Amino acid sequence: MPEYIQIKDVAKYASQEVLIKGWVYQKRSSGKLHFLQIRDGSADIQAVIFKNDVSEDVFELGDKIALESSVEIVGVVNEHKRSKIGYEISVRDMKLISDGEGYPITPKEHGVAFLMENRHLWLRSPRQRAILKIRNEIIKSIRDFFYEKGFTLVDAPIFTPSACEGTTNLFETTYFDTKAYLSQSGQLYMEAAAMALGKVYCFGPTFRAEKSKTRRHLTEFWMVEPEMAFCDLDGDMALAEEFVEYIVQSVVAKCRDELEVLERDISKLENIKRPFPRISYDEAIEILKKNGHEDIKWGDDFGGDEETVISEQFDRPVMIHHYPAECKAFYMKQDEQNPKTVKCVDMIAPEGYGEIIGGAQREENIDILLEKLKANNLSEEAFEWYLDLRRYGSVEHAGFGLGIERTVSWICGLHHVRETIPFPRLMDRIKP
Ligand code: 4AD
Ligand code: MG
Repeated sequence: MPEYIQIKDVAKYASQEVLIKGWVYQKRSSGKLHFLQIRDGSADIQAVIFKNDVSEDVFELGDKIALESSVEIVGVVNEHKRSKIGYEISVRDMKLISDGEGYPITPKEHGVAFLMENRHLWLRSPRQRAILKIRNEIIKSIRDFFYEKGFTLVDAPIFTPSACEGTTNLFETTYFDTKAYLSQSGQLYMEAAAMALGKVYCFGPTFRAEKSKTRRHLTEFWMVEPEMAFCDLDGDMALAEEFVEYIVQSVVAKCRDELEVLERDISKLENIKRPFPRISYDEAIEILKKNGHEDIKWGDDFGGDEETVISEQFDRPVMIHHYPAECKAFYMKQDEQNPKTVKCVDMIAPEGYGEIIGGAQREENIDILLEKLKANNLSEEAFEWYLDLRRYGSVEHAGFGLGIERTVSWICGLHHVRETIPFPRLMDRIKP
């Protein structure tokens, strides 16, 4: 039996006989030749079945085989300049592992509802595979970035006793004889960890019972949350822009083929270089007033429409800082110069993809924190441990959270976040 190899490695086996295993995702025939497109997950290759090279049975199998059948192929690796991988396989023998007859997704156009219902199969399509590969690269670049910068990965819990990002979108669950909530954010735990390890981050799933059916909202999404001791809002913004530039440029460097499958305009991504524009909330209000939002007033929060108008003014992500305190979470540090605002930042992606990062310097003043807890209807008792962080050796600190799916959506140029995560959880979807 020849060596079993992954398709991505074929170049090392030029002119040799090899064994590959995969799925047939396309086929065509012309008389004495059948052409099967084979996918094994590592790459794709064309397998050519020439009547004179194989047994009658194998030639017939090549003719009749259903798409998405799994196969084992023995063949010779031959140069084929016109194909993406540069090689094709001249088949000598082929064995059907399992028949794909009746595979419900056909080359014709299907509606999104049908594809979502069949998400477990839809993942096999070239477009979905390209998105998953890019998501993988984004996650790797995130881990590399923080590792290189000396951050320690600290995992945050998923069951939590209290809210971090407001009480309106909490998923409640029973936890033995008490209540618990699925985590909205690991941030509060990262604040504790930053006092132990200086620079930390968590990276995990987070949950929001968002009753909004927008193209930016999931109920379960992945968030990466760095937190730094001895860091203020400026340091936080500097890290955020370096981080986003690093992620985007990693994808541009490593995922050319996938971006091409998605027909992404790569020049727009190449342009994502520091420094990113920084504007205050007040300046953002001015931009909105001049661009069709005359009625907006100081104190209003921005939704998707407002974010899009602001992002259209810039060719790279824009950071909006110093929002009114009432728009933002209880833990954000009050600005001494203008106590109506907090030292926070939202990063808005270009091309209308909306907020990808939310962050802030954290309030250290325990009296202000106590007032904020009260104003937000949060129980002081549940936050005693958090207040301890201010009681013992408190220092200036800051951090942010980047939503993975919105970032994937932007980098891939997708219409909706539902395609950015293998099995999306939406207000109206928990299957498959
Ligand atoms: O702005 P958010 O709510 O910030 C926090 O949770 C902070 N505790 C983070 C921190 O400072 N450590 O959420 C951060 C990011 C958003 O900018 C967005 O990218 C993403 O998480 N996000 C969502 N993504 C998809 N679906 C949702 N429902 C999302 N909600 C937030
Ligand atoms: Mg936010």
